[in-house]
Amino acid sequence: MIISLMSDLKINLAILGATGNVGRMFLQILEERGFPFESLKLLASRKSAGSKIKFKGKEYLVECATKDSFNGINLVLASSGGVISKELVSHAIKAGAVVIDNSSAYRMDPDVPLVIAGVNNADLKKHKGIIANPNCTTAQLMPPLKALHNLAGLKRVIVSTYQSVSGAGKAAMDELTEQTKESLLGRDVASNVPNKKFAFNVIPHIDVFSDDGYTKEEIKVINESRKILNLPDLKITCTAARVPVYIGHSESVNVEFEKSVTRDEIITALKNFGDIEVVDNPNDSLYPMPIDIAGKDPVYVGRIREDKSNPNTFNMWVVADNLRIGAALNAIRIAEVLLKENLVNRANKC
Ligand SMILES: NC(=O)c1ccc[n+]([C@@H]2O[C@H](COP(=O)([O-])OP(=O)(O)OC[C@H]3O[C@@H](n4cnc5c(N)ncnc54)[C@H](OP(=O)(O)O)[C@@H]3O)[C@@H](O)[C@H]2O)c1
Repeated sequence: MIISLMSDLKINLAILGATGNVGRMFLQILEERGFPFESLKLLASRKSAGSKIKFKGKEYLVECATKDSFNGINLVLASSGGVISKELVSHAIKAGAVVIDNSSAYRMDPDVPLVIAGVNNADLKKHKGIIANPNCTTAQLMPPLKALHNLAGLKRVIVSTYQSVSGAGKAAMDELTEQTKESLLGRDVASNVPNKKFAFNVIPHIDVFSDDGYTKEEIKVINESRKILNLPDLKITCTAARVPVYIGHSESVNVEFEKSVTRDEIITALKNFGDIEVVDNPNDSLYPMPIDIAGKDPVYVGRIREDKSNPNTFNMWVVADNLRIGAALNAIRIAEVLLKENLVNRANKC
C-alpha cells in the first residue's frame, strides 16, 4: 500500500530499537508498503552504535539512543522495551514527535490511546504524543473479536495461547536454535533463564507471575482487550503458554455471544471485517498454522465450531504472525492513518 500525504508534511522518522526483531520488521514493512519519509534515523543501545543496516539500497549508521536523539524528528516507531520507552519517549514528544510505542509502558495509561488499526482508529484523534501498540497476543485477537462483537455481542471470552519464541525477542529465537541443536546431539541443554528450556517444551509462564496466580502476559490480554474494544466489563480470561515455534502465535478462543448465531454468520462477519482470512475446511485438513502464515499480514481464523457444552458459544483457532500484526505492521498501519488524517506535526528543530 502506498499512501500519499494530504499536505506537504515531511516525515523525519526515527526507529528506536532498530536492531531488534520488531525494529528489523519495521524496516521490512516500511519498504514493502512504500511508507513515505524524508529522513530515517536508526537508534539502538550503545552495543549496536556504529553498526550499519542496509535499507532500500542505502547503508544507515545505527546510533546510540539518548534524550537528544529526537531533534528534528516528527515520528518515532519505538520497540526497545518499556524501561527505555519510559526514559526516552517524553524527550521525543518534547522535540515535537508522535511516538508509536510497542512496549507495555503506556498501554494502560488512560491518556494514551491503545490502538489496533482497523479496530479502533477513532481513538487516534485523542493522542497527546504517544500511541501504544498492544501486546502481540492481544493484537491478533482484536480483529476477530471486534467482528464478532459487532455481529452478536460478546458475553464471555476464554483464550488459551500457544506463543512463538520470537515474541520474547531475538535472543530467545537464538536460544531455541542452540537448545534444539544441543538436545539432538544428546547434550545437556543450557538455558539463560532458569526453568525456561524452549526446545521440545511447552512453558505455561510468560512474563512474571502476579499474586493471584496469573502471569502479566495473561493480565495484558484481559486488560488490553477491554480497553481496545471499549468493553470495560467484558468477561475474558486467558492462559498463555510458550511453544517451540519461531514465528506465529496461535490462540484457542472460546466465545459466548449475547445473541444466538450460526457458524455461517460468524464466517461471513469475519470475512467482511477486513484483514481477516478464514481457513476452515476440516475435510481437506485445512486450518491456520504458524508454519504457513509467518510473513503474512492477515489474522487467520479456522476450526470454527459450536461449543455444545454451552448455549450461543463457539470455539475457534486464531493464528497470526506476531512480529507483523502483533507489532511492526500494526504500528506502521497506525502511522499511515496518522499521516492520512494529519495527526502528525511538522518537525521542530530545537
Ligand atoms: N516480538 C514481538 O512479538 C513483540 C510484539 C509486540 C511488542 N513487542 C515489544 O517490542 C519491544 C522489542 O521487542 P523485540 O522482540 O524487538 O526485542 P529484541 O529483539 O530484544 O530487540 C530490542 C531492541 O531494543 C534495543 N535496546 C536495548 N537496550 C536499549 C537501550 N538502552 N537504548 C536503546 N535501545 C535499546 C536493542 O538494541 P541492541 O541490539 O543494541 O541491544 C534492540 O534494538 C519489547 O518491548 C516487546 O515487548 C514485541
